[in-house]
Amino acid sequence: MARIPQAFIDDLLDRVDIVEVIDRRVKLKKTGKNFSACCPFHDEKTPSFSVNPGKQFYYCFGCGAGGNALGFLMDYERLEFPEAVESLAQTAGLEVPREESSGGRTGSQDSNRPLIDQLEQATRFYEHSLRSHPEAHRAVTYLKSRGLSGEIARNFRIGFAPPGWDNLLQTVGQDAQKVSLLNDSGMLVENDRGRRYDRFRDRIMFPILDARGRVIAFGGRVLGDDKPKYLNSPETPVFQKSRELYGLFQARKSERSLTRIVVVEGYMDVIALAQYGIGYAVATLGTATSEAHMERLFRHVPEVVFCFDGDEAGRKAAFRALESTLPVMQDGRQARFLFLPEGEDPDTLVRAQGADHLEHLFDTATPLENFLFDWIAQDLDITTLDGRARFSKQAAPHVHRLPEGVFKVLMYQSLADRTGIDVDSLKRLQAPPPESRPEAPPPAGEVGDPGPDDSLPAGYDPADAGPASPPDYDDLEPMGEPETDDSLIPSSTSVSQRLLGLLVLNPGLCTALDTDLLPEAERRDQTLLREVIDSIGAQPDISTAALLGYWHGTAEGQLLNDLAGREPIEDPEELAELGKALLLQLSREAPLNALRQQAAQLKAKPYETLTQDEKQSLMALTQQIRSLSGRD
Ligand code: UTP
Ligand code: MN
Repeated sequence: MARIPQAFIDDLLDRVDIVEVIDRRVKLKKTGKNFSACCPFHDEKTPSFSVNPGKQFYYCFGCGAGGNALGFLMDYERLEFPEAVESLAQTAGLEVPREESSGGRTGSQDSNRPLIDQLEQATRFYEHSLRSHPEAHRAVTYLKSRGLSGEIARNFRIGFAPPGWDNLLQTVGQDAQKVSLLNDSGMLVENDRGRRYDRFRDRIMFPILDARGRVIAFGGRVLGDDKPKYLNSPETPVFQKSRELYGLFQARKSERSLTRIVVVEGYMDVIALAQYGIGYAVATLGTATSEAHMERLFRHVPEVVFCFDGDEAGRKAAFRALESTLPVMQDGRQARFLFLPEGEDPDTLVRAQGADHLEHLFDTATPLENFLFDWIAQDLDITTLDGRARFSKQAAPHVHRLPEGVFKVLMYQSLADRTGIDVDSLKRLQAPPPESRPEAPPPAGEVGDPGPDDSLPAGYDPADAGPASPPDYDDLEPMGEPETDDSLIPSSTSVSQRLLGLLVLNPGLCTALDTDLLPEAERRDQTLLREVIDSIGAQPDISTAALLGYWHGTAEGQLLNDLAGREPIEDPEELAELGKALLLQLSREAPLNALRQQAAQLKAKPYETLTQDEKQSLMALTQQIRSLSGRD
């Protein structure tokens, strides 16, 4: 296949002006050094879409859309990469050269293309089978019995995987390449003898779409009461369960201006609500709500309402969702929790009671702050001193996880009002939060138990704890959030991400850095940092726009856009200073964390119970940590 040489693409990006490209389609207004407009990718009344002429890229602070001129054309005019290059080249009066592909970098946006195409063909096969397979009447009867209209089934591209082992497999015949694509896209399973057959058989098929509306996976439901009720595609190169949300694409398409999103548990709930005019529901895909989900949702709307079963399991799930929500509760965002009556789900409720009833329930659902405090208080008697002490110990770490802002201040205040403990003391209660719902406390006297001396009467100040008090542990707290494998989520405390942002905006900075200091990558953002540095190394005069282009349309690209969009541009000397400092800090992260872990183990015991040796090693650790983190 002829491919477009990378040098041409870089040259093209140098020659066109992104301001002109965008202004021809979306009227831009000059605001300071940049240009702005209302974002064409989500509905808004005040402009948060910004175009940076110096760096030749755009970014929307509202929805996180961003990229270079080519990326803009791809997203705005829904073009594939080569088409966008063609179109941009035409404006610049250039002819697109082609070269025979010989490996090398084609841009990650293209590598998943064959999988996506194969999934689209599978979708069409299932849609077609729902209309014309000899067994289709069973599926249609089932869907009708669930109250689905033909129109809604079409909108959600619902299909039918016919009974039989290899209906889908047969559609690609003997073509080995296509069989392997079907396999890689999760549509086949293999038995112990290495024989492949269809994963989804005799099921109603729900295609799962990505942000651009392309099918990336499926859920399949049995027609009756067999088990398992739902089968989902496994994780594949194009499908990451913990990021994707069923119905998000349709929600963005159907609602002219989204102001809130409701998170429900099932495919059928999303569809039933949409059929009744509530087009803003999404579902997680048989997994718990993750921070990545929440970050995505809050990019589109300021308010998220969770719907859960009212039973114990539902409440536990709700509390886990709350834990994923806390770190992304920037000011202006709101989360609410709705608990449904026993035995009901949004699907049955909307059909029985209508959309207005449901919308009223959404409007009046419990705000995050009440749910958090009520949940923690439920097993405690907060009329007693001891109850209030436990309450604050358990609640404060959650409040601590909120991002800095007015909401956090108010939450501390509210906790202070409920417990009579002043805000400063509460802020010091920063032990890691319990996994989920607090279990019954251990009997008094055990290690780690607050005990009578350690309970917190009103006005208690841990700093007054007397002569046996331990050294100041502030420096011992681990930096930032615990890292998860979702580390492509923008995080304001991540050193590697800060460095990524600086480098994408200022590729030239790379020459000033001693990249040998770069530690071994442990997380995805660190791998990305390494890749960005390598790309700049291979092409030292590469532009921001070209760099962003390499990752367009991928989770990595999204992160780079976010980071570039938020990094204030600084003067070159300051930049070099900052870059070096960040790299140094990064190189010390791993050894520091190891020391902190050792210290934390000692810290977990009451200071009085430590042996002399332990006290000394704690001192020594504190010293080392201080000097390594540059605080001495
Ligand atoms: P539910 O069991 O609550 O089903 O699962 P539901 O959505 O009400 O299904 P209907 O109304 O009987 O059709 C909620 C969600 O949990 C996941 C699916 O995503 C489902 O929509 N799930 C459930 C599975 O992944 N596998 C299962 O076997 C069951
Ligand atoms: Mn249901």
